[in-house]
Amino acid sequence: MNLKPRRYILAAGLAVSVAFAMAASVGCDDDDDAPSNGASGDLQQIADERGLSPDDMRHALMQYVPPGSKDDYVMFASGGHSGQLLVIGLPSMRILKTIAVFTPEPWQGFGTGADWGETVLEEGNRTDQVLEWGDTHHPAISETDGEYDGRYLYIQDRANGRMAFVDLRDFRTKQIVAVPNIQTSHGGMFVTPNSEYVHVSSKFPEPWPSGTFANLDEYQEKFRGASTWLKIDQATGRVLLDQSFQVEIPPYSQDLADAGKKVSDGWGFIGSFNTEMATGGNMEGGDSLEAGASKNNFDYLHAINWKKAEELVAAGRAETINGINVIRLDVAAAEGVLYLIPEPKSPHGIDVDPSGRYLVVGGKLDPHATIYDFEKVKAAAEAEDFEGRDPFGVPILNFDSVVAGQVELGAGPLHTQFDSQGHGYTSLFLESAVAKFTLGEDVVKTGEEPFTLIEKIPVNYNIGHLSITEGDTVSPDDKYLVALNKWSIDRFLTVGPLHPQNFQLIDLAGGNGPMQLLADMPIPNAEPHYTQIIKADKLRALDVYPPGTDVLTMQPSEFAIEGGGEKVERNGDRLEVWMSAQRSHFTPDIIRAREGDTVVIHITNVEQTKDATHGFAIANHNIQVSLDPGEVATVEFVADQPGAFNMYCTEFCSALHLEMAGWLIVEPAGSASAGP
Ligand code: CUA
Repeated sequence: MNLKPRRYILAAGLAVSVAFAMAASVGCDDDDDAPSNGASGDLQQIADERGLSPDDMRHALMQYVPPGSKDDYVMFASGGHSGQLLVIGLPSMRILKTIAVFTPEPWQGFGTGADWGETVLEEGNRTDQVLEWGDTHHPAISETDGEYDGRYLYIQDRANGRMAFVDLRDFRTKQIVAVPNIQTSHGGMFVTPNSEYVHVSSKFPEPWPSGTFANLDEYQEKFRGASTWLKIDQATGRVLLDQSFQVEIPPYSQDLADAGKKVSDGWGFIGSFNTEMATGGNMEGGDSLEAGASKNNFDYLHAINWKKAEELVAAGRAETINGINVIRLDVAAAEGVLYLIPEPKSPHGIDVDPSGRYLVVGGKLDPHATIYDFEKVKAAAEAEDFEGRDPFGVPILNFDSVVAGQVELGAGPLHTQFDSQGHGYTSLFLESAVAKFTLGEDVVKTGEEPFTLIEKIPVNYNIGHLSITEGDTVSPDDKYLVALNKWSIDRFLTVGPLHPQNFQLIDLAGGNGPMQLLADMPIPNAEPHYTQIIKADKLRALDVYPPGTDVLTMQPSEFAIEGGGEKVERNGDRLEVWMSAQRSHFTPDIIRAREGDTVVIHITNVEQTKDATHGFAIANHNIQVSLDPGEVATVEFVADQPGAFNMYCTEFCSALHLEMAGWLIVEPAGSASAGP
């Protein structure tokens, strides 16, 4: 094991003697306090007036995206407890969109009246309990041959054991799955290298299977976790629960997870803590969960052979529990589906390098990254090189047989990303820094010594995840790293005691260092946990929907009309309206209902012009729909309030946008004049 740190000094005044590229005459100046900034003419004057150092100017140029120009990368950032997903352009760090996922969002008409959003949200309710928020954690872009392919995205709800599918054809959430037998979730999401499955595992175990009761004194006996492999329908991106499976896992707290790739394709890896199986109880004569879960010197990295599990399911070795195939723990332990690997003291992230060979575990309470060699893991599993079995009979591989190296990185190593040069980059939560180090000599392309700390860069502050451009693929782009900092403290104007989170854009210099901090970006709507960053040209989102599209299925809607095809039908107390929206009117623009009617309105935006979105809102009815060009949406409600209610378009769509309005007339019950 190699523990020889070699650090570049990265003080604030680091001499970056690189020319200010736009300056006609270039005078490099290493002293930030000197009057000259290396620029000339009016650029020099601007820099002087704004107090910009040469580094500031250089970094501004490295990040600048001129008005009208587009970004090179798109970052999908989880929205944390906002329950949503942020779409951010890089390097500009401009927010392009919020995608509504687990939480209603009026602008997109998600969960505010239109059929498609209501359908998606309701699908995610496991019981009669209507879940009104989520905690999005780890987005996963679909992959082909280990590369992001830009088709689909998956993200889980940390709070509620759900996951969602976002269609990157239109950046909308199309499915929420209440994953059986998990109550909270964390591990994943990751997709397998050809998007065969998307994985999510439980965070805390629950009485198992879901829906049963057990008290905490039966924790070891009756609580369980689950590693869930959700089958992806390649044509639609949707999850097929009947072709999915779970592996029952011990009642530890399973943490982050990652997919094997290349040499480790067919495997998945989940870190854990609380192998002590502590349950808290600091008011009941016991330790707090915090203390009880931190006693063991080693917890267990779980290695799951999903291809073997798939074979067992096909061979009828699974049980169906709550609607999903489950490989029980004893079967998984006996049949080589599940192995445990000792990992030092309450670790956090587990990340697989682009070659698939190195599995990097962040120590959290241990200052090291521990790096395992998958080839050794596989050999130890085959040779039954075990140091024992856990209380559930799961074999524990011999630590010394599978470890490749440990690198002392600093305080609080959490998550690791990789470049294509054989480096890992690990976030140091306690130290507020990113540490760059080398992996094994077979992947290091720079001639540097393997398993060695190369450099560190401070971040502001308390970094959790970090993300590199194309970072989870088999071929990362060595361009940018984004640090996802939990605290911002003094970085922005004060907006009250709740501070924004801080994303920081770091240039990787092609993996050849030194890293440079380019920009801060406040994130104002919750705590994003993780991001994935894809090359912008891999995304092929629609500009407009084909005319009359049902956005959930992306097929022609049975309720679509062409302009001029509007109609109204009454069947008893069901009033059904086919309405068109077109600049700048709805047709019909008066809907005449009777008190107590069920009103169903199918609205088609008949436009095919880019960006010609209309909204449809009805006063006092909690209805707001977004109708993108070509879209059909259906609104259904009971007209239980007599009155004349304004309907209007909520998007400023034309000069006559304010005139794009109408009336919902609800005649009082018993009134003779009620139409149609
Ligand atoms: Cu349509 Cu405003």
